[in-house]
Amino acid sequence: MKFTAKSEKPAAVKAGCVVLGVYERRKLSEAASQFDKTTRGLLTGLLKEGDMDGKCGQTLLLHHPHGARCERVLLVGCGKKNEFNATRYRDAVASAADVVNRSGASDAISYLPGLELRGRDTYWKVRQLVEVSIAVLYKPDELKSKKDKISRPLRRIAANVDSNDAEIAHKALNDGEAIAAGIQLARTLGDLPGNICTPTYLAEQARTLAAGHKQIKVSVLDKAAMKKLGMGALLSVARGSEEPARLISLEYHGGREGAKPVVLVGKGVTFDSGGISIKPSSAMDEMKYDMCGAASVLGTLKACAEMKLPLNVVGVIPATENLPSGNASKPGDIVTSMSGQTIEVLNTDAEGRLILCDALSYCEKFDPEVVVDIATLTGACVIALGSHAAGLLSNDDKLAEELLNAGTTAADRAWHMPLWEEYQQQLDSNFADMANIGGREAGTITAACFLSRYAKDYRWAHLDIAGVAWKQGKNKGATGRPVALLTQFLLDRCGNSR
Ligand code: BES
Ligand code: MN
Ligand code: ZN
Repeated sequence: MKFTAKSEKPAAVKAGCVVLGVYERRKLSEAASQFDKTTRGLLTGLLKEGDMDGKCGQTLLLHHPHGARCERVLLVGCGKKNEFNATRYRDAVASAADVVNRSGASDAISYLPGLELRGRDTYWKVRQLVEVSIAVLYKPDELKSKKDKISRPLRRIAANVDSNDAEIAHKALNDGEAIAAGIQLARTLGDLPGNICTPTYLAEQARTLAAGHKQIKVSVLDKAAMKKLGMGALLSVARGSEEPARLISLEYHGGREGAKPVVLVGKGVTFDSGGISIKPSSAMDEMKYDMCGAASVLGTLKACAEMKLPLNVVGVIPATENLPSGNASKPGDIVTSMSGQTIEVLNTDAEGRLILCDALSYCEKFDPEVVVDIATLTGACVIALGSHAAGLLSNDDKLAEELLNAGTTAADRAWHMPLWEEYQQQLDSNFADMANIGGREAGTITAACFLSRYAKDYRWAHLDIAGVAWKQGKNKGATGRPVALLTQFLLDRCGNSR
Protein backbone atom coordinates (compact mmCIF):
# COMPACT_ATOMS: atom_id res chain seq x y z
CA MET A 1 0.00 0.00 0.00
CA LYS A 2 1.25 3.44 -0.87
CA PHE A 3 0.28 6.45 1.25
CA THR A 4 0.43 10.11 0.26
CA ALA A 5 -0.97 13.43 1.45
CA LYS A 6 -3.00 15.78 -0.70
CA SER A 7 -4.94 19.01 -0.38
CA GLU A 8 -7.85 18.87 -2.82
CA LYS A 9 -11.50 19.75 -3.02
CA PRO A 10 -13.58 16.60 -2.57
CA ALA A 11 -15.79 17.03 -5.61
CA ALA A 12 -12.94 18.18 -7.85
CA VAL A 13 -10.47 15.42 -7.09
CA LYS A 14 -9.95 12.54 -9.52
CA ALA A 15 -9.84 9.29 -7.60
CA GLY A 16 -11.12 5.74 -7.56
CA CYS A 17 -12.94 6.59 -4.35
CA VAL A 18 -13.49 9.65 -2.18
CA VAL A 19 -14.10 8.84 1.48
CA LEU A 20 -16.29 11.22 3.46
CA GLY A 21 -17.59 11.19 7.03
CA VAL A 22 -21.25 11.52 8.00
CA TYR A 23 -22.45 11.94 11.58
CA GLU A 24 -25.57 10.46 13.04
CA ARG A 25 -28.91 12.04 12.15
CA ARG A 26 -27.62 12.67 8.65
CA LYS A 27 -25.24 15.43 9.65
CA LEU A 28 -22.56 15.95 7.02
CA SER A 29 -18.92 16.52 7.94
CA GLU A 30 -17.28 19.63 6.53
CA ALA A 31 -15.81 17.84 3.51
CA ALA A 32 -19.05 15.95 2.87
CA SER A 33 -20.92 19.23 2.99
CA GLN A 34 -18.53 20.79 0.44
CA PHE A 35 -19.00 17.75 -1.77
CA ASP A 36 -22.75 18.03 -1.36
CA LYS A 37 -22.78 21.67 -2.42
CA THR A 38 -20.74 21.07 -5.56
CA THR A 39 -22.90 18.09 -6.52
CA ARG A 40 -26.08 20.07 -5.94
CA GLY A 41 -27.33 18.22 -2.92
CA LEU A 42 -26.50 14.68 -4.04
CA LEU A 43 -25.70 13.53 -0.50
CA THR A 44 -28.44 15.35 1.36
CA GLY A 45 -30.90 13.90 -1.14
CA LEU A 46 -29.78 10.33 -0.56
CA LEU A 47 -29.66 10.69 3.17
CA LYS A 48 -33.16 12.09 3.21
CA GLU A 49 -34.36 9.04 1.32
CA GLY A 50 -33.08 6.99 4.24
CA ASP A 51 -30.10 5.24 2.65
CA MET A 52 -27.95 6.07 5.64
CA ASP A 53 -28.24 7.72 9.01
CA GLY A 54 -24.58 8.16 10.00
CA LYS A 55 -24.46 5.58 12.80
CA CYS A 56 -21.02 4.17 13.66
CA GLY A 57 -19.94 1.47 11.26
CA GLN A 58 -22.49 2.27 8.54
CA THR A 59 -21.14 2.74 5.04
CA LEU A 60 -22.74 3.75 1.75
CA LEU A 61 -20.95 3.41 -1.59
CA LEU A 62 -22.10 5.54 -4.56
CA HIS A 63 -20.89 5.14 -8.12
CA HIS A 64 -20.10 7.94 -10.56
CA PRO A 65 -21.55 10.69 -8.44
CA HIS A 66 -22.94 13.30 -10.76
CA GLY A 67 -21.12 16.61 -10.57
CA ALA A 68 -17.94 15.13 -9.06
CA ARG A 69 -14.82 13.79 -10.80
CA CYS A 70 -14.27 10.62 -8.79
CA GLU A 71 -15.44 7.13 -9.78
CA ARG A 72 -16.96 6.42 -6.37
CA VAL A 73 -17.73 8.09 -3.12
CA LEU A 74 -17.91 6.23 0.15
CA LEU A 75 -19.87 7.72 3.04
CA VAL A 76 -18.76 6.44 6.42
CA GLY A 77 -20.92 6.69 9.54
CA CYS A 78 -19.15 8.35 12.46
CA GLY A 79 -21.88 8.25 15.11
CA LYS A 80 -23.03 11.25 17.13
CA LYS A 81 -20.89 14.30 16.43
CA ASN A 82 -20.46 15.21 20.11
CA GLU A 83 -19.47 11.62 20.96
CA PHE A 84 -16.87 11.29 18.23
CA ASN A 85 -13.60 10.09 19.73
CA ALA A 86 -10.31 8.34 18.96
CA THR A 87 -11.84 4.85 18.96
CA ARG A 88 -14.62 5.87 16.60
CA TYR A 89 -12.18 7.61 14.31
CA ARG A 90 -10.20 4.36 14.10
CA ASP A 91 -13.40 2.38 13.52
CA ALA A 92 -14.44 4.73 10.72
CA VAL A 93 -11.02 4.43 9.09
CA ALA A 94 -11.18 0.64 9.42
CA SER A 95 -14.59 0.22 7.81
CA ALA A 96 -13.61 2.62 5.03
CA ALA A 97 -10.41 0.70 4.22
CA ASP A 98 -12.26 -2.61 4.18
CA VAL A 99 -15.14 -1.43 1.97
CA VAL A 100 -12.95 0.50 -0.47
CA ASN A 101 -10.60 -2.46 -0.79
CA ARG A 102 -13.51 -4.64 -1.90
CA SER A 103 -15.09 -1.94 -4.10
CA GLY A 104 -12.78 -2.27 -7.10
CA ALA A 105 -11.20 1.15 -6.55
CA SER A 106 -7.43 0.97 -6.70
CA ASP A 107 -6.88 4.37 -5.16
CA ALA A 108 -8.74 6.43 -2.60
CA ILE A 109 -8.57 9.83 -1.00
CA SER A 110 -9.78 10.01 2.57
CA TYR A 111 -11.25 13.16 4.08
CA LEU A 112 -11.54 11.51 7.48
CA PRO A 113 -8.36 13.28 8.76
CA GLY A 114 -10.36 16.49 8.39
CA LEU A 115 -12.87 15.37 11.04
CA GLU A 116 -12.74 17.35 14.24
CA LEU A 117 -11.39 15.29 17.11
CA ARG A 118 -10.77 16.77 20.54
CA GLY A 119 -7.17 16.40 21.71
CA ARG A 120 -5.96 14.82 18.48
CA ASP A 121 -4.08 16.73 15.81
CA THR A 122 -3.52 16.18 12.10
CA TYR A 123 -0.35 14.23 12.79
CA TRP A 124 -2.30 11.76 14.90
CA LYS A 125 -5.19 11.42 12.49
CA VAL A 126 -2.95 10.84 9.48
CA ARG A 127 -0.72 8.40 11.34
CA GLN A 128 -3.74 6.44 12.50
CA LEU A 129 -5.12 6.40 8.97
CA VAL A 130 -1.98 4.57 7.90
CA GLU A 131 -1.74 2.23 10.90
CA VAL A 132 -5.40 1.23 10.89
CA SER A 133 -5.69 0.82 7.11
CA ILE A 134 -2.66 -1.46 6.95
CA ALA A 135 -3.94 -3.43 9.92
CA VAL A 136 -7.41 -4.14 8.47
CA LEU A 137 -6.12 -5.15 5.09
CA TYR A 138 -3.78 -7.80 6.48
CA LYS A 139 -5.07 -11.37 6.29
CA PRO A 140 -3.10 -14.15 7.98
CA ASP A 141 -3.16 -16.37 4.89
CA GLU A 142 0.57 -16.90 4.44
CA LEU A 143 0.13 -20.64 4.86
CA LYS A 144 -3.04 -21.07 2.82
CA SER A 145 -2.39 -22.47 -0.64
CA LYS A 146 -5.46 -20.72 -2.05
CA LYS A 147 -5.76 -17.12 -0.89
CA ASP A 148 -9.02 -15.18 -1.09
CA LYS A 149 -7.62 -12.83 -3.70
CA ILE A 150 -9.36 -9.55 -4.45
CA SER A 151 -9.09 -8.96 -8.20
CA ARG A 152 -8.56 -5.20 -8.00
CA PRO A 153 -7.35 -4.39 -4.50
CA LEU A 154 -6.77 -0.94 -3.11
CA ARG A 155 -3.18 0.16 -3.75
CA ARG A 156 -2.95 3.84 -2.89
CA ILE A 157 -4.51 5.87 -0.11
CA ALA A 158 -4.20 9.64 0.08
CA ALA A 159 -4.89 11.54 3.26
CA ASN A 160 -6.49 14.87 2.56
CA VAL A 161 -5.10 17.59 4.81
CA ASP A 162 -5.03 21.36 4.91
CA SER A 163 -2.24 22.59 2.62
CA ASN A 164 -0.54 24.18 5.67
CA ASP A 165 -0.22 20.71 7.18
CA ALA A 166 1.67 19.10 4.29
CA GLU A 167 4.92 18.75 6.21
CA ILE A 168 3.35 17.37 9.37
CA ALA A 169 1.33 14.96 7.23
CA HIS A 170 4.50 13.60 5.65
CA LYS A 171 6.03 12.97 9.01
CA ALA A 172 2.81 11.24 10.09
CA LEU A 173 2.80 9.05 6.99
CA ASN A 174 6.41 8.00 7.53
CA ASP A 175 5.95 7.30 11.23
CA GLY A 176 2.67 5.50 10.54
CA GLU A 177 4.30 3.24 7.96
CA ALA A 178 7.19 2.42 10.27
CA ILE A 179 4.89 1.63 13.19
CA ALA A 180 2.55 -0.39 10.98
CA ALA A 181 5.54 -2.40 9.73
CA GLY A 182 6.47 -3.15 13.33
CA ILE A 183 2.90 -4.15 14.14
CA GLN A 184 2.75 -6.36 11.06
CA LEU A 185 5.96 -8.12 12.00
CA ALA A 186 4.56 -8.85 15.45
CA ARG A 187 1.31 -10.13 13.97
CA THR A 188 2.89 -12.44 11.41
CA LEU A 189 5.20 -13.94 14.00
CA GLY A 190 2.32 -14.32 16.44
CA ASP A 191 0.12 -16.08 13.92
CA LEU A 192 2.80 -18.56 12.87
CA PRO A 193 2.27 -21.98 14.44
CA GLY A 194 4.53 -23.46 17.08
CA ASN A 195 6.04 -25.99 14.69
CA ILE A 196 7.39 -23.17 12.52
CA CYS A 197 7.92 -20.35 14.98
CA THR A 198 10.35 -22.07 17.35
CA PRO A 199 13.00 -20.42 19.55
CA THR A 200 15.48 -21.03 16.73
CA TYR A 201 13.12 -19.34 14.28
CA LEU A 202 12.75 -16.31 16.55
CA ALA A 203 16.54 -16.05 16.72
CA GLU A 204 16.69 -16.18 12.90
CA GLN A 205 14.10 -13.42 12.73
CA ALA A 206 16.20 -11.31 15.06
CA ARG A 207 19.20 -11.89 12.79
CA THR A 208 17.19 -10.94 9.72
CA LEU A 209 16.06 -7.74 11.42
CA ALA A 210 19.65 -6.88 12.31
CA ALA A 211 20.81 -7.66 8.77
CA GLY A 212 18.35 -5.10 7.43
CA HIS A 213 19.32 -2.31 9.82
CA LYS A 214 22.93 -1.52 10.47
CA GLN A 215 22.15 0.18 13.80
CA ILE A 216 20.97 -3.18 15.17
CA LYS A 217 23.36 -5.78 16.57
CA VAL A 218 22.19 -9.19 17.61
CA SER A 219 23.53 -11.92 19.88
CA VAL A 220 22.06 -15.32 20.61
CA LEU A 221 22.92 -17.47 23.63
CA ASP A 222 22.44 -21.23 23.59
CA LYS A 223 21.91 -23.62 26.47
CA ALA A 224 25.60 -23.91 27.35
CA ALA A 225 25.98 -20.12 27.54
CA MET A 226 22.85 -19.78 29.65
CA LYS A 227 24.03 -22.54 31.95
CA LYS A 228 27.30 -20.68 32.46
CA LEU A 229 25.34 -17.60 33.51
CA GLY A 230 23.39 -19.70 36.01
CA MET A 231 19.99 -19.33 34.35
CA GLY A 232 18.48 -22.29 36.17
CA ALA A 233 14.94 -20.92 36.06
CA LEU A 234 14.86 -20.36 32.31
CA LEU A 235 16.55 -23.68 31.58
CA SER A 236 14.12 -25.55 33.83
CA VAL A 237 11.29 -24.55 31.49
CA ALA A 238 13.19 -25.74 28.43
CA ARG A 239 13.94 -29.19 29.87
CA GLY A 240 10.84 -30.89 28.50
CA SER A 241 11.35 -29.78 24.91
CA GLU A 242 13.42 -31.10 22.02
CA GLU A 243 13.64 -27.59 20.59
CA PRO A 244 16.69 -25.83 22.01
CA ALA A 245 16.07 -22.67 24.05
CA ARG A 246 17.61 -19.35 23.07
CA LEU A 247 18.30 -16.04 24.75
CA ILE A 248 18.20 -13.39 22.07
CA SER A 249 19.52 -9.83 22.54
CA LEU A 250 19.17 -7.02 20.02
CA GLU A 251 20.88 -3.69 20.52
CA TYR A 252 19.60 -0.72 18.59
CA HIS A 253 22.06 2.17 18.58
CA GLY A 254 20.24 5.31 17.53
CA GLY A 255 21.25 7.49 20.45
CA ARG A 256 24.42 8.96 21.84
CA GLU A 257 27.29 6.59 22.53
CA GLY A 258 27.01 5.71 26.21
CA ALA A 259 23.41 6.88 26.63
CA LYS A 260 21.66 4.33 28.84
CA PRO A 261 19.26 2.17 26.85
CA VAL A 262 15.61 1.43 27.32
CA VAL A 263 15.51 -2.36 27.64
CA LEU A 264 12.47 -4.28 26.41
CA VAL A 265 12.12 -7.89 27.54
CA GLY A 266 9.63 -10.08 25.68
CA LYS A 267 8.29 -13.46 26.78
CA GLY A 268 9.07 -15.89 23.98
CA VAL A 269 7.32 -19.16 24.86
CA THR A 270 6.76 -20.44 21.33
CA PHE A 271 4.29 -23.01 22.64
CA ASP A 272 2.94 -23.32 26.16
CA SER A 273 1.33 -26.70 26.83
CA GLY A 274 1.63 -26.05 30.55
CA GLY A 275 4.32 -28.74 30.90
CA ILE A 276 3.61 -31.46 33.47
CA SER A 277 0.90 -29.19 34.93
CA ILE A 278 -0.66 -29.62 31.51
CA LYS A 279 -3.39 -27.30 30.26
CA PRO A 280 -6.84 -28.52 29.21
CA SER A 281 -6.84 -29.31 25.48
CA SER A 282 -9.60 -26.91 24.44
CA ALA A 283 -8.07 -23.84 22.82
CA MET A 284 -4.59 -25.07 23.66
CA ASP A 285 -3.65 -24.15 20.08
CA GLU A 286 -3.84 -20.52 21.18
CA MET A 287 -0.75 -21.06 23.26
CA LYS A 288 1.27 -20.59 20.07
CA TYR A 289 0.61 -16.93 20.91
CA ASP A 290 2.64 -17.22 24.08
CA MET A 291 5.54 -15.58 22.26
CA CYS A 292 3.64 -12.38 21.46
CA GLY A 293 5.69 -10.43 24.00
CA ALA A 294 8.82 -11.43 22.07
CA ALA A 295 7.13 -10.56 18.79
CA SER A 296 6.23 -7.10 20.12
CA VAL A 297 9.86 -6.50 21.05
CA LEU A 298 11.00 -7.40 17.52
CA GLY A 299 8.23 -5.25 16.03
CA THR A 300 9.07 -2.29 18.21
CA LEU A 301 12.76 -2.49 17.34
CA LYS A 302 11.87 -2.63 13.67
CA ALA A 303 9.70 0.49 14.00
CA CYS A 304 12.46 2.27 15.95
CA ALA A 305 15.06 1.48 13.34
CA GLU A 306 12.80 2.54 10.48
CA MET A 307 12.07 5.85 12.20
CA LYS A 308 15.76 6.18 13.11
CA LEU A 309 14.82 7.18 16.65
CA PRO A 310 17.66 8.99 18.44
CA LEU A 311 17.67 6.55 21.35
CA ASN A 312 19.41 3.40 22.45
CA VAL A 313 17.05 0.47 22.83
CA VAL A 314 17.83 -3.12 23.73
CA GLY A 315 15.51 -6.07 23.19
CA VAL A 316 15.96 -9.21 25.25
CA ILE A 317 13.99 -12.33 24.35
CA PRO A 318 14.08 -15.51 26.39
CA ALA A 319 12.70 -18.12 23.99
CA THR A 320 11.66 -21.68 24.73
CA GLU A 321 8.83 -24.18 24.47
CA ASN A 322 7.03 -25.46 27.57
CA LEU A 323 6.30 -29.18 27.08
CA PRO A 324 5.91 -32.26 29.24
CA SER A 325 8.37 -35.13 28.85
CA GLY A 326 10.33 -37.61 30.94
CA ASN A 327 12.90 -34.91 31.32
CA ALA A 328 10.54 -32.05 32.12
CA SER A 329 10.41 -30.05 35.36
CA LYS A 330 7.99 -31.46 37.90
CA PRO A 331 5.77 -29.69 40.42
CA GLY A 332 7.82 -29.32 43.56
CA ASP A 333 11.17 -29.06 41.79
CA ILE A 334 13.39 -26.32 43.17
CA VAL A 335 15.57 -24.33 40.78
CA THR A 336 18.17 -21.63 41.26
CA SER A 337 17.81 -18.48 39.18
CA MET A 338 20.66 -16.37 37.83
CA SER A 339 20.10 -13.94 40.71
CA GLY A 340 20.85 -16.75 43.17
CA GLN A 341 17.28 -16.76 44.50
CA THR A 342 15.73 -20.24 44.66
CA ILE A 343 12.27 -21.03 43.32
CA GLU A 344 9.89 -23.85 44.14
CA VAL A 345 8.11 -24.69 40.89
CA LEU A 346 4.67 -25.56 42.24
CA ASN A 347 3.05 -25.26 38.83
CA THR A 348 5.00 -25.81 35.63
CA ASP A 349 2.39 -23.76 33.77
CA ALA A 350 3.59 -20.62 35.53
CA GLU A 351 6.63 -20.77 33.23
CA GLY A 352 6.60 -17.21 31.88
CA ARG A 353 7.90 -15.74 35.12
CA LEU A 354 10.61 -18.41 35.25
CA ILE A 355 12.10 -17.42 31.93
CA LEU A 356 11.53 -13.69 32.51
CA CYS A 357 13.22 -13.62 35.90
CA ASP A 358 16.52 -14.77 34.42
CA ALA A 359 16.11 -12.39 31.49
CA LEU A 360 15.53 -9.55 33.97
CA SER A 361 18.76 -10.40 35.78
CA TYR A 362 20.57 -10.59 32.46
CA CYS A 363 19.36 -7.05 31.61
CA GLU A 364 21.61 -5.55 34.26
CA LYS A 365 24.57 -5.95 31.93
CA PHE A 366 23.08 -3.27 29.68
CA ASP A 367 22.99 -0.72 32.54
CA PRO A 368 19.40 0.15 31.63
CA GLU A 369 17.70 3.54 31.92
CA VAL A 370 14.45 1.60 32.39
CA VAL A 371 13.30 -1.95 31.72
CA VAL A 372 9.86 -2.86 30.40
CA ASP A 373 8.88 -6.50 30.08
CA ILE A 374 6.01 -7.60 27.87
CA ALA A 375 4.38 -10.97 28.42
CA THR A 376 1.25 -13.04 27.84
CA LEU A 377 1.65 -13.89 31.48
CA THR A 378 -1.64 -14.65 33.20
CA GLY A 379 -5.11 -15.86 32.34
CA ALA A 380 -6.16 -13.78 35.36
CA CYS A 381 -5.38 -10.62 33.40
CA VAL A 382 -7.89 -11.64 30.72
CA ILE A 383 -10.50 -12.04 33.47
CA ALA A 384 -9.63 -8.67 35.04
CA LEU A 385 -9.32 -6.46 31.97
CA GLY A 386 -10.72 -8.43 29.06
CA SER A 387 -9.29 -7.70 25.65
CA HIS A 388 -9.21 -3.91 25.74
CA ALA A 389 -6.37 -3.03 28.06
CA ALA A 390 -3.03 -4.58 28.93
CA GLY A 391 -2.24 -4.88 32.62
CA LEU A 392 0.50 -2.52 33.77
CA LEU A 393 2.46 -2.97 36.97
CA SER A 394 5.60 -1.09 37.94
CA ASN A 395 8.02 -0.32 40.73
CA ASP A 396 8.02 3.32 39.57
CA ASP A 397 4.87 5.42 39.29
CA LYS A 398 6.41 7.92 36.91
CA LEU A 399 7.40 5.19 34.47
CA ALA A 400 3.90 3.70 34.78
CA GLU A 401 2.36 7.05 33.95
CA GLU A 402 4.60 7.44 30.90
CA LEU A 403 3.47 4.07 29.62
CA LEU A 404 -0.20 4.75 30.34
CA ASN A 405 -0.01 8.04 28.47
CA ALA A 406 1.76 6.41 25.55
CA GLY A 407 -1.02 3.83 25.40
CA THR A 408 -3.70 6.49 25.32
CA THR A 409 -1.91 8.46 22.63
CA ALA A 410 -1.34 5.40 20.48
CA ALA A 411 -4.84 3.95 21.02
CA ASP A 412 -3.19 0.85 22.51
CA ARG A 413 -4.12 1.23 26.12
CA ALA A 414 -2.94 -0.26 29.40
CA TRP A 415 -4.42 -0.05 32.89
CA HIS A 416 -2.42 0.42 36.07
CA MET A 417 -2.75 -2.31 38.72
CA PRO A 418 -1.25 -2.23 42.22
CA LEU A 419 2.02 -3.85 43.15
CA TRP A 420 1.66 -3.41 46.90
CA GLU A 421 3.96 -5.35 49.19
CA GLU A 422 0.95 -6.97 50.90
CA TYR A 423 0.63 -9.25 47.87
CA GLN A 424 4.22 -10.48 48.09
CA GLN A 425 3.55 -12.96 50.90
CA GLN A 426 1.37 -15.04 48.59
CA LEU A 427 4.65 -16.25 47.06
CA ASP A 428 6.04 -17.65 50.33
CA SER A 429 7.41 -21.19 50.09
CA ASN A 430 8.38 -23.58 52.89
CA PHE A 431 11.32 -24.93 50.93
CA ALA A 432 12.73 -22.20 48.70
CA ASP A 433 13.06 -18.41 48.59
CA MET A 434 9.74 -18.22 46.79
CA ALA A 435 7.11 -20.28 45.02
CA ASN A 436 6.33 -19.65 41.38
CA ILE A 437 2.58 -19.28 42.02
CA GLY A 438 0.64 -17.17 44.49
CA GLY A 439 -2.75 -18.87 44.68
CA ARG A 440 -6.09 -18.03 43.14
CA GLU A 441 -6.38 -14.43 44.27
CA ALA A 442 -4.89 -11.55 42.27
CA GLY A 443 -3.01 -13.77 39.84
CA THR A 444 -1.79 -10.94 37.64
CA ILE A 445 -0.45 -9.04 40.61
CA THR A 446 1.33 -11.98 42.23
CA ALA A 447 2.95 -12.81 38.88
CA ALA A 448 4.24 -9.23 38.74
CA CYS A 449 5.32 -9.50 42.40
CA PHE A 450 7.42 -12.49 41.41
CA LEU A 451 9.10 -10.51 38.61
CA SER A 452 9.64 -7.48 40.85
CA ARG A 453 12.05 -9.55 42.93
CA TYR A 454 14.38 -9.70 39.93
CA ALA A 455 14.00 -6.05 38.93
CA LYS A 456 15.20 -4.41 42.12
CA ASP A 457 18.16 -2.59 40.63
CA TYR A 458 16.42 -0.45 38.03
CA ARG A 459 13.15 1.27 37.19
CA TRP A 460 10.94 -1.42 35.78
CA ALA A 461 7.45 -1.93 34.39
CA HIS A 462 5.59 -5.04 33.35
CA LEU A 463 2.89 -5.26 30.69
CA ASP A 464 0.65 -8.32 30.93
CA ILE A 465 -0.69 -8.65 27.38
CA ALA A 466 -2.56 -11.96 27.81
CA GLY A 467 -5.88 -10.32 26.89
CA VAL A 468 -4.76 -8.04 24.08
CA ALA A 469 -2.12 -9.91 22.06
CA TRP A 470 -4.55 -11.88 19.93
CA LYS A 471 -8.23 -12.05 19.05
CA GLN A 472 -10.38 -15.12 19.34
CA GLY A 473 -13.40 -16.03 17.27
CA LYS A 474 -14.13 -15.37 13.62
CA ASN A 475 -11.27 -12.97 13.08
CA LYS A 476 -8.87 -14.99 15.18
CA GLY A 477 -5.37 -13.66 14.93
CA ALA A 478 -2.54 -11.71 16.48
CA THR A 479 -3.14 -7.99 17.01
CA GLY A 480 0.45 -6.75 17.11
CA ARG A 481 -0.27 -5.12 20.46
CA PRO A 482 1.46 -3.48 22.26
CA VAL A 483 3.90 -2.40 19.52
CA ALA A 484 2.01 0.89 19.12
CA LEU A 485 2.17 1.63 22.85
CA LEU A 486 5.86 0.77 23.09
CA THR A 487 6.79 2.74 20.00
CA GLN A 488 4.87 5.74 21.30
CA PHE A 489 6.63 5.42 24.64
CA LEU A 490 9.98 5.56 22.83
CA LEU A 491 8.86 8.40 20.53
CA ASP A 492 7.79 10.41 23.58
CA ARG A 493 11.19 9.79 25.15
CA CYS A 494 12.89 11.39 22.16
CA GLY A 495 11.23 14.69 23.08
CA ASN A 496 12.22 17.42 20.66
CA SER A 497 15.35 15.70 19.49
CA ARG A 498 13.75 14.42 16.31
N1 BES B 1 0.70 -18.26 28.90
C1 BES B 1 -0.08 -18.48 30.06
C2 BES B 1 -1.04 -17.34 30.34
C3 BES B 1 -2.25 -17.23 29.46
C4 BES B 1 -3.30 -18.11 29.60
C5 BES B 1 -2.34 -16.23 28.54
C6 BES B 1 -4.42 -17.98 28.81
C7 BES B 1 -3.47 -16.09 27.77
C8 BES B 1 -4.51 -16.96 27.89
C9 BES B 1 0.82 -18.62 31.27
O1 BES B 1 2.02 -19.26 31.03
C10 BES B 1 0.06 -19.44 32.25
O2 BES B 1 -0.19 -20.57 31.97
N2 BES B 1 -0.28 -18.86 33.38
C11 BES B 1 -1.02 -19.54 34.39
C12 BES B 1 -0.44 -19.15 35.71
C13 BES B 1 -0.99 -19.96 36.86
C14 BES B 1 -0.54 -21.38 36.75
C15 BES B 1 -0.52 -19.34 38.15
C16 BES B 1 -2.48 -19.11 34.29
O3 BES B 1 -2.73 -17.92 34.04
O4 BES B 1 -3.34 -19.96 34.42
MN1 MN C 1 1.85 -21.34 31.18
ZN1 ZN D 1 2.77 -19.12 29.19
